[in-house]
Amino acid sequence: MIPTIKWEDNCIYIIDQRKLPRKKEWLVCQTLKDVITAIREMAIRGAPAIGVAAAMGLALGSQTIKTESYEIFRRRFLEMARQMKLARPTAANMRWAAERMIRVVEMMDDNNVEEIKRAVRKESQSILDRDIEINKKIGQNGLGFIPDKATILTHCNAGALATGGYGTALGVIRAAHEAGKDVHVIVDETRPLLQGIRLTAFELMEENIPVTVIVDSASGYLMQKKMIDLVITGADRIASNGDTANKIGSYQLAVLAKVNKIPFYVAAPLSTFDPDLKNGDLIPIEEREPKEVISFAGHLLGPEGVDAFNPAFDITPAKYISAIITERGILKPPYKGSIRALFGTDVK
Ligand code: MRU
Repeated sequence: MIPTIKWEDNCIYIIDQRKLPRKKEWLVCQTLKDVITAIREMAIRGAPAIGVAAAMGLALGSQTIKTESYEIFRRRFLEMARQMKLARPTAANMRWAAERMIRVVEMMDDNNVEEIKRAVRKESQSILDRDIEINKKIGQNGLGFIPDKATILTHCNAGALATGGYGTALGVIRAAHEAGKDVHVIVDETRPLLQGIRLTAFELMEENIPVTVIVDSASGYLMQKKMIDLVITGADRIASNGDTANKIGSYQLAVLAKVNKIPFYVAAPLSTFDPDLKNGDLIPIEEREPKEVISFAGHLLGPEGVDAFNPAFDITPAKYISAIITERGILKPPYKGSIRALFGTDVK
């Protein structure tokens, strides 16, 4: 399985996903700024993966803070975390990871700064290692939704590359394949950045899992023709009522699945939940540059000067989601109750 990110020789190595599947190249990040740029420019992407990158980036940044004063260290670390959280706005995992790192710093207020730097680095590694374990658990928890023979539609990339490893939605598919189930995956190409055809198809082929790529607009046709047994996607942020942000196009898949009586599942770790948000309307949706829509690989596709709008995510209302698969088990509607049971009574 292709690795996503690793820490080596006081640098962060990121597989540059912009170059996949043609080239497997490590991008070496030596500073916090390098990591923020890698996230913003999507050398690394996918909610859990950018959470791990945020944690590691903060560990890297913390090493450059030259002071023996806890207060100065803390202030500079908080500023780094603030900058990191701004890199991409939709995925909850970025904020979750940054908050975990801040908690380590704040709990060590009577330790010396060098010890705190070591603890912060250790925490970032444990966020990576734990993410892989969590995904394997999600895979096992989702197995019951996959028939022994199934054609599964997925969107974008919620695989090893989108996480610390193994994947969420693709983790469930991987687990089904490992359990001997006969799965065939239909992958939306996922315009404009083509995470489906470039990354998901690549990951599945590496594992010898049968895969067929379709253009995004073909999914309704396949559902109508009963060529899809279930849909499974990842998530970037899940509000306390179950409304889910994921790659643009997920909402229309969920509606089409409902109309065609096909189950639509979301697979996500608890770090993707935002129990402070009442509903999906409050999830910030990243708008990326129009050039991603109007050009590809440096070639302009449309007429010179054409306008384009490029929201990177959309919100699938909870009512279209058949179940949410987490490392702690399956959440079923009504989600408000099941999410409250997971996160405690103070969810919004
Ligand atoms: O813009 P991206 O490529 O970061 O979007 C990724 C997705 O939408 C994934 O489906 C989501 O982050 C879940 S990844 C396990």
